[in-house]
Amino acid sequence: MIALCPSTQLVEGGSGLRFDVSVDGEACGAFAVRYRGQAVGYLNRCAHVAMELDWVAGQFFDSEGKTLLCATHGAAYDPADGGCVGGPCAGRGGLRRLEIVESGGVVYWRPDPGVRPLPRPDG
Ligand code: FES
Repeated sequence: MIALCPSTQLVEGGSGLRFDVSVDGEACGAFAVRYRGQAVGYLNRCAHVAMELDWVAGQFFDSEGKTLLCATHGAAYDPADGGCVGGPCAGRGGLRRLEIVESGGVVYWRPDPGVRPLPRPDG
């Protein structure tokens, strides 16, 4: 598992933590936010067009903290499972979920076969 941040850094409905991962050998953004008490994480890639969701870095939630919004064309996603709940992708697809684990006051990401850590420059 890879430590991302202290649990206290992820505030309910607040700013997300951005981090980088590798998908099929390509660098891709990812993020973690807190929703209904749970730390959840997704690839930072809209299901509509492959663009990052946040317009202001780290701002993923709508003003009420209820959905994750793509700032570019307004796709909306359920923070609980990443499913699309509105916008241009209207029910098609959703965000690629990542496995986020919290333990001992630390938020971790557990890589899976499709989403790997970025290779470290020092090998
Ligand atoms: S790029 Fe996300 S809604 Fe269009």
